[in-house]
Amino acid sequence: MNEDMALDNPVIAIDGFSSCGKSTVAKALAHKLGIRYIDSGAMYRAVTYYFLNNKIAFPAAGKHSDFNYEPILDKIHISFKISSENGLSEIYLNNVYVEKAIRSMEVSENVSHVSAIKQVRRRMVDLQKQMKQDGGLVMDGRDIGTTVFPEAELKIFMTADPEVRALRRFRELQSAGVEVTLEEVRNNINSRDYEDTHREESPLRKADDAIELDNTQLNFEEQVAFVIACLRKLSIVDKP
Ligand code: DC
Repeated sequence: MNEDMALDNPVIAIDGFSSCGKSTVAKALAHKLGIRYIDSGAMYRAVTYYFLNNKIAFPAAGKHSDFNYEPILDKIHISFKISSENGLSEIYLNNVYVEKAIRSMEVSENVSHVSAIKQVRRRMVDLQKQMKQDGGLVMDGRDIGTTVFPEAELKIFMTADPEVRALRRFRELQSAGVEVTLEEVRNNINSRDYEDTHREESPLRKADDAIELDNTQLNFEEQVAFVIACLRKLSIVDKP
């Protein structure tokens, strides 16, 4: 069921901290509106996966490097394809399906370091900006409302209590069969929050015109209803 859109090709930015459930809300929204969903975090994860697999060194947390990553980045091709099985957009790295592989703890533990590299960010931001040429989209990440699409029609900034996020993520990983402890998940979320908000290039922050959605106490339906109400208020979808 698609909502009737009052606006052609809207761009919706959903930013926020790690494991806030951004992608769940973003996917549902894209489905309701009949527009694409792009997981920008998956793009940084895919680059990190490539760096790890090819033993490419990268600076530790908070450290800088003058290394020229451009020739390496030239070899990385990232694309999304719609799955014929579930209709969801899935990520490919150099034409290889990596949607599941990029969710490993090893990638999670290194992605904030790799995504702090300026050359990596600039490549990804350029790629993300180009995606708008194909029509409306919902994109989630850390800097979508501030850097990628500052002109987005709707910006949501998601937050939730860190302990609640850790528990949700832990359960998610457990049911995916990933062997991990709650403590490891909690540490990973805390360090990514810190690094993502403190990096030099496009750090995670709430855009001035973003609407905050704290979902600590909200279930999935309540979160989607909140965003739909925002869309109606901003006349992005028709009122019922
Ligand atoms: O959304 P995620 O947790 O899968 O994102 C993984 C990491 O990628 C996140 O810790 C920081 C980085 N990221 C980013 O720097 N900018 C974005 N727009 C999206 C993700």
